[in-house]
Amino acid sequence: MGKDEAQRRIEELRILLRENSRKYYVENAPDMSDQEFDFLMHELEALEAAYPEFYSPDSPTQRVGSDLGSEFVKRAHRYPMLSLGNTYSISEVEEFAARADKLLESGFSYCCELKFDGTAICLTYTGGRLTRALTRGDGTMGDDVTRNALRISNIPHTLKGDFPEEFEIRGEILMPYASFEALNRERADEGEAPFANPRNAASGSLKLGDSEEVAKRGLWCTLYHIPAQSVPFDTHYEALSKAASWGLPVSEHIKLCNSIEEIRAFIDYWDVARRSLPYATDGIVIKINELSAQRSLGYTAKSPRWAVAYKFKAEQACTPLLSIDYQVGRTGAVTPVANLAPVQLGGTVVKRATLVNADQIAALDVRVGDSVYVEKGGEIIPKITGVNLSLRPADVLPPAFPALCPDCGTPLVKQEGEAKWFCPNQDGCPTQIKGRILHFMGRKAMNILAGEATVEQFYAASLVKTPSDLYKISKYQLMSLEGWQDKAAQRFLDSLEDSKKVPFERVLFALGIRFVGESTARDIALHFGSIDAIASASKKDLLQISDVGEVVAGSVYEYMHKDAHMEEIGKLRLIGLKFEVTGGSDSVSAALAGKTIVVSGNFSISRDAMKELIAAHGGKCASSVSGSTSFLLAGSKPGPEKLRKCDQLGIPVISEDEFSKLLPSSEKNEAVQELTLF
Ligand code: IVH
Repeated sequence: MGKDEAQRRIEELRILLRENSRKYYVENAPDMSDQEFDFLMHELEALEAAYPEFYSPDSPTQRVGSDLGSEFVKRAHRYPMLSLGNTYSISEVEEFAARADKLLESGFSYCCELKFDGTAICLTYTGGRLTRALTRGDGTMGDDVTRNALRISNIPHTLKGDFPEEFEIRGEILMPYASFEALNRERADEGEAPFANPRNAASGSLKLGDSEEVAKRGLWCTLYHIPAQSVPFDTHYEALSKAASWGLPVSEHIKLCNSIEEIRAFIDYWDVARRSLPYATDGIVIKINELSAQRSLGYTAKSPRWAVAYKFKAEQACTPLLSIDYQVGRTGAVTPVANLAPVQLGGTVVKRATLVNADQIAALDVRVGDSVYVEKGGEIIPKITGVNLSLRPADVLPPAFPALCPDCGTPLVKQEGEAKWFCPNQDGCPTQIKGRILHFMGRKAMNILAGEATVEQFYAASLVKTPSDLYKISKYQLMSLEGWQDKAAQRFLDSLEDSKKVPFERVLFALGIRFVGESTARDIALHFGSIDAIASASKKDLLQISDVGEVVAGSVYEYMHKDAHMEEIGKLRLIGLKFEVTGGSDSVSAALAGKTIVVSGNFSISRDAMKELIAAHGGKCASSVSGSTSFLLAGSKPGPEKLRKCDQLGIPVISEDEFSKLLPSSEKNEAVQELTLF
């Protein structure tokens, strides 16, 4: 792979992983399997290692996924809450053991445990009482869910025995299968979307606003890690045994191992035995047991070097492929979807699975009539992963990918470097038009109360072709549609009115610009401050945003240079939608909106904390000084090269003191206090 191609792929992977991380941790609705996510992450790690010039501290390889929501008070973790390095191959576990052997001078053992598939929690006990429960959040700050944790039946409020005066213990909140099934039955009865898997259900339940409801969800906790700084023990095993003696829930499925053979036996045993456990597990965690050895191995930016997770392969089923549908999405991308003979997989019946794109069909050599392997690794949409060639009937032929859009009949196109075929008829293809409207109305976008069936109805009645048409619909028109009554019509009109208060970053997301997911839209909106500034930005200006690369910059630039789009934005602006940052609900303030700041040197808080502070106030950090830098924020010992460049370009250099005067005082103090707890 050449350097340009590597750069493009790195960027593509960062976008994909960032968006999916958000869907996984925040929305509890991932649309890629864990295994696929892990493989893409490993591909990105390998590319970044081969091309260190494309290193970015913001890359998903350098940060743990964030579950932070806006409804909870955020608090700093006393010790960063990291993730685990993971692998699907025993040989990498062997490499982990060999590395430890080489690096550690004295003897050591391994502690093998189940890898629980829930959502991480950090509990603090003070004087034997549970005083705080934080989610992992972004690893630095977590959501304070203490009230909810107190309603989880096996989390003790008070401890017994010789517990330390204050300590932290970390673990997982799980939803056992039985509670998960009961909850989904209840949701189905009430017409609510079911949770895709117990992990999403656990995470969604832990983040409920109503702790009475949390108590009813049947959540369960298991604890597996006491930060070594927190207690005076020699081994991890001893720490967990002590925790159990204080009344804390610690798994009994834990084993001390002295060799790779013993580790392998533990893995093999649980790969089968886990199917009889009442809760979900997705692997085995292997930890170096001696805390002194853990200390000497230390941590990477994201995970400890003293532990590794071996993940079980996703469950598979084999079933006949009956036919293939070709579905058009809102961006015009055409996805092949397999219709399967119904098969039982991971607790549900699977009838449809994605075939991803034409290249994937060719690579797997899938043919209608074949018996295909289906996998479902926690995601909603199962995937075809292979063909059982020994069962192939004699007369089956490779499927022909359609040449025309299955919806509007326009010839499909495939752009260079793209894996998918596209319908180019953006303004005339009904599926794309409806898809864009549906995306615009979505909960994370404008939150207009209507679903797919309503969009179908509006489109069929020729009421909408673009989002601005929604705002022209009258009550009279609504009431003349089948099934609409006064109350529903008024609710819809009220939600349209409310959507005018939606902050600019969500409006930008609602426009449905390709590659611009929720978090990218937020970054772009906060960086530029207004649609006018975005529309007049060059690609180079767009590239100043640390998470925006060529692909996103190109897509935004093209979008803003299409007359039809600018006309639609003009209409939406006249209707009263927000096209400027006014201090969003998630951000602390918009005091730094539109500012691109380069941070250099040491500050009273860590540099990462400073960057978060800037982001919380709507500013954007860039790694190098250029013509579009607003100012250099210089701590002690700033980089001489950066200072020289500022001097050359006439860019202001400001101190930490001067900087803090730019922030609204009360908010700044609170934010800085939280961040300096480290
Ligand atoms: S130890 C410093 N032990 O898996 C890391 N983690 O995918 C300490 N997990 O972030 C974590 N079971 O949320 C540890 N027995 C176990 C675990 C476990 C599940 C979770 C944990 C971690 C994630 C990584």
